[in-house]
Amino acid sequence: MTQDLTLLGLESSCDDTAAAVVRYSEGQPPEILSSVVVGQTDLHAAFGGVVPEIAARAHAEKMDLCVEKALAESSLTLRDMDAIAVTAGPGLIGGVLSGVMCAKGLSAGSGIPLVGVNHLAGHALTPRLTDQVPFPYLMLLVSGGHCQFLIVHGPDEFTRIGGTIDDAPGEAFDKTARLLGLPQPGGPSVENAAKTGNPKTHHMPRPLLDRVGCDMSFSGLKTAILRARDDVVSAKGGLTPQDQSDLAAGFQAAVVDVLAEKTRRALDQYLALEPQTPTIAVAGGVAANSAVRDALMSVAAAHDTAFLAPPLGLCTDNAAMIAWAGIERLLAQLPFDDMSLSARPRWPLDTTSPSMLGSGKKGAKA
Ligand code: KG4
Ligand code: ZN
Repeated sequence: MTQDLTLLGLESSCDDTAAAVVRYSEGQPPEILSSVVVGQTDLHAAFGGVVPEIAARAHAEKMDLCVEKALAESSLTLRDMDAIAVTAGPGLIGGVLSGVMCAKGLSAGSGIPLVGVNHLAGHALTPRLTDQVPFPYLMLLVSGGHCQFLIVHGPDEFTRIGGTIDDAPGEAFDKTARLLGLPQPGGPSVENAAKTGNPKTHHMPRPLLDRVGCDMSFSGLKTAILRARDDVVSAKGGLTPQDQSDLAAGFQAAVVDVLAEKTRRALDQYLALEPQTPTIAVAGGVAANSAVRDALMSVAAAHDTAFLAPPLGLCTDNAAMIAWAGIERLLAQLPFDDMSLSARPRWPLDTTSPSMLGSGKKGAKA
C-alpha cells in the first residue's frame, strides 16, 4: 500500500506566525505546497527584543489569516488535510498556546486529527524535507534561543552531545547590534557591518575552547563587546562607522572560531559513533551567516563529511518544517494527539541528557 500524506503545519513559538501545507507521496521528494510566514519585527523594534505579550496577541490575530492563505496557495481545502501539525513547544508560552488553540479549534471543527510537534524537531528534521538525508546525521542547531549539537537518529530520537551553557549565538548577535547602535534583528546587521571591519582591531575571547567536549558559552562575549565599545566611546566620545565595523568583525570572528572548533570536536565524536553516514547539517537563523557557513563547510570538508544548509527560509522559523515533522511522526506510526495536547514552554528533545543551564535570556526561544 502506498502512503500519501498532506499536512497543514502551524508555527507560533517566537516572533513568526506561520502556516504551511506539505505533501508526501511515497517514493517522491516531499513537496512544500505553500509556506506563509508573517514576522513581527516591526512590533518589537522599539523594545530591543521580543515582548512575549505583544507576540502572543499578534499570533492570535494573524494565525487564522496565515492558515487561510496557506490553504489558498496550496489550492487545497482543510478537508484535504490528513492531519494538522502544530508546534506545541518549546517557546514563549503565549505564542505556543495561540497555535495550539487554533489547531485544536480546526481539528474539533473538521474532525481532522492533531499532531503536536516539538519546534526543535522541526528544525532538526528539515534536512530530510529539503534533501531526503538518511538517518542518522549530525545537526548543529544555532538560532536566537538555541545552540546544540544533536545526533538525529529518527523522528523522535535525538541525542544531544553538546550545546551552549548560557546564551545562544543569535542572542549575542542581537545584543551586539544593540550595543553598537545597529538595527534589529542583529545577525544580519552585524554581519553586514563586519564586512568592512578589521577583526583584529579588538580582540575578543574564545570562551570554553580550553574545556574538552563540545559545550559552548556566549555570555562572556557579550560582556567583552560591551567593554570594548565602552573603551572606544570613552576614548573618542562615540563610535564611528569604522569602529562599529571593527567591533562587529571582532565579535563575529570570535563566534565563528568557537562554532568551528566545537563543530570539529562534535564531528570527531559523531564520526566515531556513526562512520557510515558522514553528514552534518545546520539549521536556525545564525546558519544564515555566510562567515559561519563558510567555516562550518571547511570543517566538514576536512572531515570528508557532507555539509547541508537548508535554504534561508527553511533555516529560520517556518511552518513547513512543522508540517514535515508531523508527516515524519505519522510515517513512523507515532500516535496522533487529542484535545489534551498542551503547550510546553520547555520541552527538551533529548530527555536523557542532563539539562543545560538556561536556554537564552530572551526566554525559551527556539
Ligand atoms: O531561527 P530563528 O529565525 O529564530 C529563532 O531563534 O528561533 O533565528 C533568529 C536569530 C536572531 O537572533 C538573528 O539575529 C539571528 O538568528 N540571525 C543571524 C543572521 N540572520 C539571523 N545571526 C547571524 N548572522 C545572520 N546573517
Ligand atoms: Zn526556531
